[in-house]
Amino acid sequence: VSAAESPELAQPVFVNGGLRPALARALRGLRPAPSRVFLVVDPAAARLALAPAQGAVRDAGLSLTVLRAPRGEGRKSLTSAGALARALVRSGADRRSLVLAVGGGVTSDLAGFSAAVTLRGLRWAVCPTTLLAMADAALGGKTAVNLPEGKNLAGAFHFPSFVIADAALLRSLPAREWSCGLGEVVKSAMLDGESALRRLERAPPAALRRPSPALLAAARAAAELKMRVVRADPFEGGERALLNLGHTFGHALETAAGPRRLAHGEAVALGLRCALSLAARTGLAAPDYERRIGALLDRCGLPARYPGRLPGAARLEALLARDKKARSRRLDLVLPVAPGRNVIAQGADPADVAAEIHRALGAAPARR
Ligand SMILES: NC(=O)c1ccc[n+]([C@@H]2O[C@H](COP(=O)([O-])OP(=O)(O)OC[C@H]3O[C@@H](n4cnc5c(N)ncnc54)[C@H](O)[C@@H]3O)[C@@H](O)[C@H]2O)c1
Ligand SMILES: [Zn+2]
Repeated sequence: VSAAESPELAQPVFVNGGLRPALARALRGLRPAPSRVFLVVDPAAARLALAPAQGAVRDAGLSLTVLRAPRGEGRKSLTSAGALARALVRSGADRRSLVLAVGGGVTSDLAGFSAAVTLRGLRWAVCPTTLLAMADAALGGKTAVNLPEGKNLAGAFHFPSFVIADAALLRSLPAREWSCGLGEVVKSAMLDGESALRRLERAPPAALRRPSPALLAAARAAAELKMRVVRADPFEGGERALLNLGHTFGHALETAAGPRRLAHGEAVALGLRCALSLAARTGLAAPDYERRIGALLDRCGLPARYPGRLPGAARLEALLARDKKARSRRLDLVLPVAPGRNVIAQGADPADVAAEIHRALGAAPARR
C-alpha cells in the first residue's frame, strides 16, 4: 500500500494533565460533527478520566451516552463486542455517532472493534489510560477481540479519528500494569534504535513508573515509532509486521497461560527474550545484545520465566500454528539483529519455534 492510498492517520496528541481542553478541541474539530458521543469507559480508568472526558463532551456541545466497558482480557470477546454493539444500537447510535474509548488496550480493542462492525462502521476515537495503550495499543487502527482459539483472532482495521493520551491519568495505574507498558516500550526501542534504547537504559526505573518527563518522552517516542511504521504500511503488507517483534512467541505463551497469569506486556517481554535467544544462538545477534535487553527487561520488573510449568512443545506448536500471520502452518518471525535492525525470517517451522521457547524459558536456571 503506498502512502497515497493510506487512510487518514491522526498523529496522537500527548498531554500531561489537561485532558478536558485537548479532548474538547479534538471533538470540535470532527467533520461532520458527531450526532452523539458514546463514551465507553474502563471502570478502573473512570476514577480519573470520566469527569474530564464528560466535561470535554459538554464543552464541545455534544450529547453524550456513557457505557461501561467490561474489565479484563477475558472480556475482550465476541460476546462483549456483541453486547456493546447492541447497547450502541439500543441507545440510538447512527452513522454520525462517535464511539470514544477511554481505557487501556482491552477497552480500545473492544470498543474499536464494536465501532467497526456496528452499522458497518461508526467513527471512533481513543483516550488511552494505560502506558501500554498510550505507547502501542491505542495507535494504528488494529482492533480485535480474542477467540477461545487464540488472541486477537477476530478483528478489523479501523482507524481512530484521533488519539489523545493524558499521562496524568497513569497516576492510578497498578505496578504490574506499568511493567506491562514498559514491555512494549522496550520492544519499540529495539525497533527504533540505539538512542531510544540508551534513553531507556539511562532513566532510573522509578522515573519510568510515574508520569515523569522521562516516561512521557519514552511513551511518545514509542508512539511516534509506531505511527511511522503504520503510515508506511497501514494494512501490514510488509514493514508493519516488524511491530510483531516478540509477539509470535508472546501470543502463544499468553494464550497458554491465560491472562491472569501472564498479562500481554509480560508475554511480550518473554517473547522478546525468546526472539533474542534464537537470534543470538543462530549468530544473527551478538550475545551482548541479548544480555543487554535481558537486563533492561529485568529492570522494568518484567518476567524472565513462564509462570508455572511451561506447556509441552506440542501444545505450544499448536498455538503457534494458529498465529494470525501463519501461512500453511509456517511462521514469519521478527528477529532482532541490533538496535534498530530487525529482520523477518519467513517460513519458520512452529516445531522449531516451540523448541526455542523451551530453550529460552525452560528448565535451565534463570540467566541473570
Ligand atoms: N490494537 C493494537 O494494536 C494493540 C497493540 C498492543 C496491545 N493490544 C491489546 O491491548 C491489550 C492490553 O492493554 P492494557 O495493558 O492497556 O490492558 P487493559 O485495558 O486490560 O488495562 C490493564 C488494567 O488497567 C486498568 N486500568 C486502565 N486504566 C487505568 C488507570 N488509569 N488507572 C488504574 N487502572 C487502570 C484496567 O481496568 C485493567 O485492569 C491486550 O488485549 C492487547 O492484545 C492491542
Ligand atoms: Zn503488544
